[in-house]
Amino acid sequence: MTEPHLHPVQAEWKERALIDDATYRAWYEKSVADPDSFWAEHGKRIQWSKPFSRVKNTSFEGDVSIKWFEDGETNVSVNCVDRHLETKGDQVAILWEGDNPAEDKKITYRELHGHVGRFANLLKQQGVKRGDRVTIYMPMIPEAAYAMLACTRIGAIHSVVFGGFSPDALAGRIVDCQSTVVITADEGYRGGKTIPLKENTDKAIDIAARSDVAVRSVVVVKRTGNLVGWVDGRDIWYGDAVADLSPDCPPEAMNAEDPLFILYTSGSTGKPKGVLHTTGGYLVYASMTHQYVFDYHDGDIYWCTADVGWVTGHSYLLYGPLANGATTLMFEGVPNYPDQSRFWQIVDKHQVNIFYTAPTALRALMGSGDDYVKKTSRSSLKVLGSVGEPINPEAWEWYYKVVGESRIPIVDTWWQTETGGILITPLPGATDLKPGSATRPFFGVKPKLVDSEGQVLEGAADGNLCIIDSWPGQMRTVYGDHERFVQTYFSTYAGKYFTGDGCRRDADGYYWITGRVDDVLNVSGHRMGTAEVESALVSHEKVSEAAVVGYPHDVKGQGIYCYVTLMAGEQGSEELRKELVAHVRKEIGAIASPDKIQFSPGLPKTRSGKIMRRILRKIAEDDYGALGDTSTLADPAVVDDLVANRQNKK
Ligand code: PRX
Repeated sequence: MTEPHLHPVQAEWKERALIDDATYRAWYEKSVADPDSFWAEHGKRIQWSKPFSRVKNTSFEGDVSIKWFEDGETNVSVNCVDRHLETKGDQVAILWEGDNPAEDKKITYRELHGHVGRFANLLKQQGVKRGDRVTIYMPMIPEAAYAMLACTRIGAIHSVVFGGFSPDALAGRIVDCQSTVVITADEGYRGGKTIPLKENTDKAIDIAARSDVAVRSVVVVKRTGNLVGWVDGRDIWYGDAVADLSPDCPPEAMNAEDPLFILYTSGSTGKPKGVLHTTGGYLVYASMTHQYVFDYHDGDIYWCTADVGWVTGHSYLLYGPLANGATTLMFEGVPNYPDQSRFWQIVDKHQVNIFYTAPTALRALMGSGDDYVKKTSRSSLKVLGSVGEPINPEAWEWYYKVVGESRIPIVDTWWQTETGGILITPLPGATDLKPGSATRPFFGVKPKLVDSEGQVLEGAADGNLCIIDSWPGQMRTVYGDHERFVQTYFSTYAGKYFTGDGCRRDADGYYWITGRVDDVLNVSGHRMGTAEVESALVSHEKVSEAAVVGYPHDVKGQGIYCYVTLMAGEQGSEELRKELVAHVRKEIGAIASPDKIQFSPGLPKTRSGKIMRRILRKIAEDDYGALGDTSTLADPAVVDDLVANRQNKK
């Protein structure tokens, strides 16, 4: 049966595609029937200094242990840089576009090799050794990539913290992984404004010191040149320090299962978790998905708009594309600066072939009208991608018709920080597209839908999305807390990796991600734990209790709705609302800014004291007609007050 909005693979793709439908089916079958031989073959796509003899050694039971290519040795920077020197030394590796449209830079693979080598030598000079954790808090400038690759060169584990996070959030991450070296910039530029990265770093280091973590060196890249605070003996100007250093730094031979990086991400409870990825399997998976999902061909100009502070920036701005010898575009700015045409102007300026962004950006641009798009050519584009949150069919159609002029396939890629790479996605030359569906599993990925009792659902069904077997890019543990890893991901449905997402599978076997089923929000494609926002709110002296839920938001996907109970004697006011918003921004960062704050004398609780979030969600959505059973509440009258004072009246 043809659905009204089915977009079949276009004729020209049948010629050009690396993978057509028949190949997809054959490879997929093989990958799930015999993962060992499938991955033995594809594991060879990266260069190993010592070849692996074992492929897959994984268990989702008991203590959970995940090992891929476990006796192989390799180095990520060698794969991303040195390996291309002979054939692509003069090809641009990083094509950098500044926040200011007048600024750009092209860094060839040969130049990249020198930058990475010098930076690695600088880290060594600062005493950084294999296995040490290095925190990177940077704007989107090439030095962020040099820093990450330099860590991999010497076997240090990087922890990149998004530049929009507050000093408190940065400090928490420094302390959690006991990182004594931080790489930052004086300031960053974004949308014509400056971001005080060094100042934030100084504050974070002071906060970390209270937890007995002493940062001993701070490498500072000069970006704006404005005056910043300085601690002699601790702070080092990157430019001065690398000037005399050798561009050659011998790579450390890393075991496939040696840690590569930590990336903190929010969960439904507690503090952000340090997701740990290791070396070999991650790189195999990132590079393979990058090649096939985007149908990447040598010579293509590839642009992923994600910040290096997120996993998309790790796997698909840096490691995947560079491992494949691509030209990867790195953009310092934002989609609407100087105006809403910027993305498409950059596409034309650099003749971008593959473009990968988030639905939130598309929805914002869609709202400002088609003219900003139509006045550009975009004729170089071949593949469009989407990531980070469900893309609503309206935004999908706009992307397809207006941006892509109905000639370019859209790959709606579903994955997570934990998965390391894309798990469910169309392949441009193989998959007929349905707007809003991430379509089919990538090679080696075995998704299952389960009901709340853990029963596996077959055929067309709606349920909780689990993955029942390992793939090489999977996270290995929560840094420093393996028990939390097992509890968070493998205990809800024993023996299965639970993603936290709800999902529907249609009669064609296509997957439709419906969003988180836990207490995790997705605000503008950024993951945010409701518990984190709640704990930021209650750390304010006037707040006694807080409950945070998401509600549908036209541009952000989800907005942050906060119910706040004040201390006795305190009065809610517009001023206090502003104060609380500022407080949350200070505690976490601007991305966690509450959209709505409702002062509520009481919260709906069961007699055992559990907050009934279902009710809070309904009120936040202004859908309180469907509150369901409230008879188990300790004080049902609370609900009337909440409804009467709701902040989101439609
Ligand atoms: O809910 C899913 C949503 O983003 C979550 C993962 O967030 P994060 O770890 O920050 O990684 C984002 C970039 C990979 C998922 O649990 N999500 C991600 N991609 C999609 C998506 N939801 C629907 N469709 C997608 N394509």
